Amino acid sequence: MKRTHTCGQLAKKEIGKKVVLQGWVDTVRSYGELVFIDLRDRYGKTQLVFSNESKKALEVANQFRREYVVEIEGVVSARKLGTEKKDWPTGEIEVVCEKAEILNVAEVPPLEIDDRALANEDVRLKYRYLDLRRPTMQHNIIFRHAVLQAIRRYMHDNKFLEIETPMLIRSTPEGARDYIVPSRVNPGKAYSLPQSPQLYKQILMVAGFDRYFQIARCLRDEDLRADRQPEFTQLDVEMSFPSEEDIYNLGDGLMKYVFHETMGTDLKIPFPRITYAESMEKFGCDKPDLRFGLELAEVTDLLKKSDFEVFKNASTIKCLNAVGCGNFTKGDLAKLTDLAKVYKAKGLVTIKIAGGKMESNVAKYISDSLQKELIKKTNAKDGDLLLLVADNFKITNAALAALRNDLGKRLNLYDPKDFKFCWIVDFPLFEWNEDEEKWDAAHHMFTMPKKEHLKYLQTDKGKVHAQCYDMVLNGVEIASGSIRIHRADIQEQVMKALGIEKADAEKKFGFLLEAFKYGAPPHGGFAPGIDRLIALMLGIPGGDIREVMAFPKNKSAECPMDGCPTVPDEKTLKELNMKFMVEKK
Ligand code: AMO
Repeated sequence: MKRTHTCGQLAKKEIGKKVVLQGWVDTVRSYGELVFIDLRDRYGKTQLVFSNESKKALEVANQFRREYVVEIEGVVSARKLGTEKKDWPTGEIEVVCEKAEILNVAEVPPLEIDDRALANEDVRLKYRYLDLRRPTMQHNIIFRHAVLQAIRRYMHDNKFLEIETPMLIRSTPEGARDYIVPSRVNPGKAYSLPQSPQLYKQILMVAGFDRYFQIARCLRDEDLRADRQPEFTQLDVEMSFPSEEDIYNLGDGLMKYVFHETMGTDLKIPFPRITYAESMEKFGCDKPDLRFGLELAEVTDLLKKSDFEVFKNASTIKCLNAVGCGNFTKGDLAKLTDLAKVYKAKGLVTIKIAGGKMESNVAKYISDSLQKELIKKTNAKDGDLLLLVADNFKITNAALAALRNDLGKRLNLYDPKDFKFCWIVDFPLFEWNEDEEKWDAAHHMFTMPKKEHLKYLQTDKGKVHAQCYDMVLNGVEIASGSIRIHRADIQEQVMKALGIEKADAEKKFGFLLEAFKYGAPPHGGFAPGIDRLIALMLGIPGGDIREVMAFPKNKSAECPMDGCPTVPDEKTLKELNMKFMVEKK
């Protein structure tokens, strides 16, 4: 028999109709001669009733167990008054069954197909097909589909071509490690899996396609976090002859469209643009959560004049006014200090404001006039709590940015359903790698320096800013991009500045430099991370992207369902002319 309706479809207007339904047994309530079943599929649930009126069907229904796949034939009837389920679209009807068949049996599921009882992560991932049957996961994956379709429509309507790029490529540097794939037909050689389609999309601009997009799978061998998976999806975009403005407009318009189409949310555009320098100054990071204030105050010069040794010796001192937190207990303050220490701060100075004065064990080192200046600069009032970190630029900012985010959440300073976007612009081109004592590309090495800064490339790298931008939503970087270098001579200069020898560059990216010799147009683009975007749209706690991916990896980059990664079998290794050896650490 073919099903006539889905389990989310039947309503009052179908009363009296004969229907065939197929689906999974969600719940069984059996009273011997009367059996109620909730039948479930992707579209919803429908209540089935079996009684003595159809003895054979009742017999079959009495064998139904949770997660059996079954088929029924019956007549749609109105539910008895008072038994309607208002929150179900099918809640006003039930199907009185005349025939029933078990299409497949199921063992007792090792996890509940229910949002109320969440199994632990490895069980959820091992039985992902059962976890995915839960209403929340069904909703998340279906919502993801809606977002992807909206993106495709928007990009198509704006004349972008969807073009696929290869998965087996030469290494593309995005700052992580590559996954590599040995080549059977080229013994001793390996492909890389793309960290992103970066170089290919640039070459597509050289090929004259003008506007490209791809819903691209990216693979990066890096340590996992809630918002980081080894395999993830980007909307990858590139345009020819763009200004930065064109890319901001595209990003603004895209987000507005996608939020409107999938959630009915009207975002206000254009999104604010904040320079990297301003963001660091006010929020201590380049991904500010703009849903709340709590801006930082720069107080280095002011507090260097105090008698407190820690202040005198620090290169950067900043202060966060935790408004109204003067009543924090010792325990609260210890927790804040511990958090600051996670970011390598040696300590946290806490000052309560009362009667227009400072209460703190460091107050005695700060003169009355300096205290007044500090109170003025931080807008502090009685009942406030000042949090100060004195260290180098990086540590001071990182620690206070974390404290700011922690307080924003703890003090309920924002509506979790609010969406606050911004663009962070005007990034430095290089960043100093303290561990390796060298300059790295802050975004990637194909980013165009600001024209007026080209002259500092070899002499004063810290001064060079880039035509580079991030899109940030609620404190999370959801997209990155840049105007690219399209001239081989500038690309060579940047590689030289990064300490990449010409021969090495030739070896790694010779094909890109070669392509640039044949009329590369000015080009640029960006790439929003789709998983992060969807996790934020759905308000997933902690922005955990595994909740919006069908088959994510666990924290150890394994898939408990299929058991990968595995040791390659001998036959495969033989065909690859390879030996698989692991050196003990
Ligand atoms: P970038 O490396 O900044 O830029 O990545 C762009 C966006 O992709 C998302 N993202 C991730 N999401 C989940 N798991 C990960 N491991 C992960 N890594 C990155 C983030 C990030 O903002 N080729 C450039 C883009 C360009 O210049 O056009 C790139 O890949 O949301």
